[in-house]
Amino acid sequence: MSVTEKNNTVAVWDPVVRYGHWALVAAFAVAYLSSEEDTGFPNALHVWAGYVTGGIVVFRIIWGFVGSPHARFRDFAYGPVAAMRYLWNLISGRARRYIGHSPAGAVMVFLLLFCLAGTVSTGIVAYGQQGHGLLAGIATTTAATLRSVPGEDDDADEVRVGQSGEREESAMSEAHGALANITLGLIVVHILGVLLASVRHRENLIAAMFSGQKRTGN
Ligand code: HEM
Repeated sequence: MSVTEKNNTVAVWDPVVRYGHWALVAAFAVAYLSSEEDTGFPNALHVWAGYVTGGIVVFRIIWGFVGSPHARFRDFAYGPVAAMRYLWNLISGRARRYIGHSPAGAVMVFLLLFCLAGTVSTGIVAYGQQGHGLLAGIATTTAATLRSVPGEDDDADEVRVGQSGEREESAMSEAHGALANITLGLIVVHILGVLLASVRHRENLIAAMFSGQKRTGN
């Protein structure tokens, strides 16, 4: 696939990046908003939205190696120093405009993909410890391992209830919740960064994530 130019616009984001982005927004929103449960077990909507989120992330990572030029990771392989320099220049109004991801945008993409992958994986393991989902088998394994250790609890696959009557979360479940909240924080910064860059470079980056087009030149 090649980047094409016409009418002073250039095709930057291919359909996989665009549809993938908005599908990811929807899947994460559904997963996050459906995460509250009193039973100790996640509801089916949360689980399926999590699987979809994970599928999109895996697909986006593969696309980062085989996708269109601006979708490839090597097109935006900037480090934190370049990102900080770009951010400083953006705030002081001197940042140059990038056709693909800017250095700060790039670091945010990597952070988002990393935290999303972490959120989904810890969710799958925590759900597996409860005896459900893709890793349902690990609950039996964990329980068997604990039973073989003298003095250890033999109810490893059950939801534990503390002295106050409140449900106690497993360490994996807590990590899952913490990662989901870190991801949400990154998303807020991501949206603010997109808005700031749109104002500074006088271009609607949100519209570009729908159309795939950006203007040529500066
Ligand atoms: C309504 C809220 C959101 C808006 C308006 C928005 C907007 C954008 C825009 C404009 C870009 C391209 C940035 C650039 O030009 O360099 C982008 C990229 C990206 N955004 Fe968002 N975003 C939103 C929410 C989210 C959420 C919720 C996630 C994660 C769950 C997310 C993950 C990403 C990722 C991974 C990329 C990189 C796209 C790629 O290269 O595939 N965004 N976003």
